[in-house]
Amino acid sequence: MMKTKTRAAKTPAVRHVLDLFDFTAEEIEHLLERAAKLKKAHHRQADKPLLQRRVVGLIFEKPSLRTRVSFQAAVAQLGGTSLFMAGNEAGLGVRETVADFARTLANYVDAVVLRVFRHQTVVDFAAFSSVPVINGLSDYSHPCQALGDLLTMRQTFKDWHKRTVAFIGDGNNVARSLAVGCGKLGIPFILAAPDGYGFDEPFLEEFRERLPDARLEQTQDPKEAAAAGDFIYTDVWASMGQEDEREQRRKSFASFQVNGNLLALAPPDARFMHCLPAHRGEEVTDDVVDSERSIVFAQAGNRMHAQKALLAWLLR
Ligand code: CP
Ligand code: NVA
Repeated sequence: MMKTKTRAAKTPAVRHVLDLFDFTAEEIEHLLERAAKLKKAHHRQADKPLLQRRVVGLIFEKPSLRTRVSFQAAVAQLGGTSLFMAGNEAGLGVRETVADFARTLANYVDAVVLRVFRHQTVVDFAAFSSVPVINGLSDYSHPCQALGDLLTMRQTFKDWHKRTVAFIGDGNNVARSLAVGCGKLGIPFILAAPDGYGFDEPFLEEFRERLPDARLEQTQDPKEAAAAGDFIYTDVWASMGQEDEREQRRKSFASFQVNGNLLALAPPDARFMHCLPAHRGEEVTDDVVDSERSIVFAQAGNRMHAQKALLAWLLR
C-alpha cells in the first residue's frame, strides 16, 4: 500500500513573504527603490513585461478591494496573468487539506497571494508550497500594506527615516507589520492603544529579540502619540473577523478617534495615513480623511507599485 505523505516534500529554497521580520533592511530599501522606479515607469506608460508568462494565484478568505485589485492590476501591467478564488469557493482547508491545496496549486501558478483568517494557514501553506507565498493579510500581519506604507512615507518627506510614526488605534495586523518595517529601517514607532489592545506579549518578545535597537514605544495616551507623530496612522477598531466585538471596541477606543482636535496636536507638517477601508465616524472623522494632510489615497495607490517590486524580485 502506498504511504500517505503528510510532510512537506523537500523543495528547493523558495522565498515566502509571511511578515517583514524575515527581510533585511537592505532588502526593504531595495524593494522601495525598485517600487519607486516601477511607479515612474508606469506613469510614463513604460511598464516592462517583467512577469511575462507568469501566473499569480490569489486565494482570499476575506473581502478585499486594495489588495486584490492592486495585485491583479500589477500582474496585468507587467505582462502576466492572475486568477482569483474566494477561499470558500476553492475549499482551502475544507475540501482538502491546506498542504494538498498548496502542493497542487504550485503546479499551475508561479506565486500565490493568500488572505486568511488564521495566520497559521499561511504558515502551513508556505511550508508545502514550492512557489513563493505572499501573505495578503492575516490576523497577525499585513506585510504588503507595510511595504506600500513605507513607500508612501519615503515619497512624502526627504528625511523620512527620521520621522516618527504614531499609530493611534488597534495593535493588530497592520500596526504590527508597520512597526516591524519601521524597526528594520530605524524609524521611530509609537503605538497608542487602550489597555488590552496594544501589542501582545509574544509579538513584543519577538520584536525585542529580532530588533533590539528599534525605537518602539507604547502608550495609552493618544494625545502623547499625536504630539510626537509626523505620520498619524490609524486602522479600523474592529478588524475582519472581529465583527462581534465591534460594539465593545467602539466603547474602548472612543477617546482614540483621530479627529481634527487630535490632529491639531501633531507637528504642523504631519500627515494622516490609513490602510483603508476606513470606518468614517469611528476611528477617523471625515474632516481628517478628506483633509489636505491626508495621504490615504496615495498610500492605497502605492500598494500596487510596492507589490510589483515584490513580485518582480520574488520571480526574478
Ligand atoms: N488595505 C487593504 O488591505 O485593503 P483591502 O482589505 O481592501 O485589501
Ligand atoms: N485591520 C484590518 C485591516 C484591513 C486592511 C483588518 O484586518 O480588517
